Amino acid sequence: MTNDQRLNSESSPSFISPALPPSFMAENPPADRPIRLGIMASGSGSNFEAIAAAIFSGQLHAKIQVMIYNNPQARVLERANRWQIPAVFHNHRDYKRREDLDAKIIETLHEHDVELVVMAGWMRIMTPVLIDAFSNRILNMHPSLLPSFKGGQAVEDAIAAGVKISGCTVHLVAAEVDSGKILMQAAVPVFPNDTRESLHGRIQVQEHRIYPLAIAIAAGGIHRRSAR
Ligand code: GAR
Repeated sequence: MTNDQRLNSESSPSFISPALPPSFMAENPPADRPIRLGIMASGSGSNFEAIAAAIFSGQLHAKIQVMIYNNPQARVLERANRWQIPAVFHNHRDYKRREDLDAKIIETLHEHDVELVVMAGWMRIMTPVLIDAFSNRILNMHPSLLPSFKGGQAVEDAIAAGVKISGCTVHLVAAEVDSGKILMQAAVPVFPNDTRESLHGRIQVQEHRIYPLAIAIAAGGIHRRSAR
């Protein structure tokens, strides 16, 4: 967490506590084996870091099999190296069609035996090629309270609309962008003097708290389906 994010989290409590409800453990008992994750990221990787930290501190029963990134400058690579997590680079500029990039990504996910795909700031639109190959097994984090403010300018759009509350959403990825089933959300206040950076920083504090919880929920579903 950066100093700004720490300040934000201390001075701006979220409106919705994503603390586990009492029924959570009953509904999502830890499985006898870790869920195998493939994380896709394009940028700083603070969500990747939060997920890795939750795993290594024993709060999330999961293993990151591979981190796929598409931007050679992405800071997430440094983070993956630090956690000693295998990283695979697929440069979207090398592919004429989005479908070809997605086919390559599927190959990598299968090679690393991934069960659940986690988009953590992956800034490319996914095609049905990938969505169908991992149907109901791809999560995305979006920096707004969906269904409000879909798309790539969610934080700016929330400020421009003058909303007083915004937040973040973890959802299953469906063919229509930012539209799949919502798994978890957390809300934060929007202050009159907020900039894109200040509001996004406050939202990210909540992203880092709820992503591991949402992964545990999705993992529970996958474990239950594979036990049948
Ligand atoms: C996150 O804040 C996430 O909400 C946003 O990208 C950021 C990545 O940050 N995702 C989207 O806008 C997806 N449409 P990170 O690289 O530090 O995890």
